[in-house]
Amino acid sequence: MSNEIAFKLLKKKIYEKTGIDCSLYKDTYLKRRIDLRMKAIGVGTSYNEYYRYLGKNPAEYDTLMDGITINVTEFFRDITTFDAFKNDVIPEVLAYKKKRKSKIIRIWSAACSIGEEPYTIGIILHEKLGTEIKNFLISIQATDLDAKALNVAKAGIYDASALKKLKKFMVSRYFDAVEGGKYRIKSNVKQLVRFQQHDLISGKKFLHFDVIFCRNVLIYFGKELQNQLFLDFYNALNDGGYLIIGRTETLTGEAREKLLCVNTRERVYRKAGT
Ligand SMILES: C[S@@+](CC[C@H](N)C(=O)[O-])C[C@H]1O[C@@H](n2cnc3c(N)ncnc32)[C@H](O)[C@@H]1O
Repeated sequence: MSNEIAFKLLKKKIYEKTGIDCSLYKDTYLKRRIDLRMKAIGVGTSYNEYYRYLGKNPAEYDTLMDGITINVTEFFRDITTFDAFKNDVIPEVLAYKKKRKSKIIRIWSAACSIGEEPYTIGIILHEKLGTEIKNFLISIQATDLDAKALNVAKAGIYDASALKKLKKFMVSRYFDAVEGGKYRIKSNVKQLVRFQQHDLISGKKFLHFDVIFCRNVLIYFGKELQNQLFLDFYNALNDGGYLIIGRTETLTGEAREKLLCVNTRERVYRKAGT
C-alpha cells in the first residue's frame, strides 16, 4: 500500500475513533504532527505502521489529538494586537454602545487554549474601564475543542514564566500567588470569562458578539473551511463589531469582501455599523 493511501486510511480511522474530521485540516499540517508522533514512539516512517500501532495502543489516539490541537499560547501574545484592542477597538465599541444606550459587551475568544487569551482580554478591559467596568455587563465567551486545555483554563493557575509579558503591577493587580511559585487569576477577571467546549468545525453557530478573537487556529484548516468559518464569524458579529485574527493569518473568502480592514498589521476587521 502506498504511503498516501495509508495516510487516507489513517485519517478515516482517526475520525471514527475521535470524531475529529481530519479531512478538514491541511494535509501538510496533519502529516507534520503525525510524523512527530511517529518519531517520538519510533515506528518508522510508514503511516501503515502507525495505523497498526494505533490499533494495538488505543491510548495513542489521545496523545495524537494533543499533538494535533497544539495549545501554544501566552498572556499578551502579540502585544501590539492587544494595544490595538485597548486603544482603538474598545473606545469604538464603547462609543457605539453609548449611542445605542446599551451596556452589554460580548466578546468571543474562539480556540482559547488554556485561557491566557481570554484572561488577557479581561485584564485589558479592567485596565481600560477602571471602576466604570461595573457599569457594564461584560461576557467573554471562551471556547476550545480540547477539554484538557479548558480544564487548565478554568483552574486559572499558571507558572510565573507565563506572566513574563505582564508588568509587575498587573501581576499583583490580577493574580494571587499560590503554592509552588504559581499564580492564580483573580476573580475580578475570572468572573468575566465563561469557558465552553466547542469544535469550530461542528457547524454550531454563536451570535451577537461585539468582538471576536480567533487567532492561530484557522491556519491549520483547509481553504474552504477557513472561508466558511470567517463568514460564520462575520455573521456572529453585531453591527459595528470587530474580528481579530492572528498576525500571520489572512482573511479570505466572502468575509474579506464584507469586513473592513481597520488595522492591516494587527489584522483587525470591522463589520459595518448601522
Ligand atoms: C495555537 S492555539 C491558539 C490559542 C490562542 N488563540 C492564541 O492565539 O494564543 C490553537 C488552539 O486551537 C484549538 N483547536 C484546534 N482545532 C480546533 C477546533 N476544531 N475547534 C476548536 N478549537 C480547536 C486547540 O485545541 C488549541 O487550543
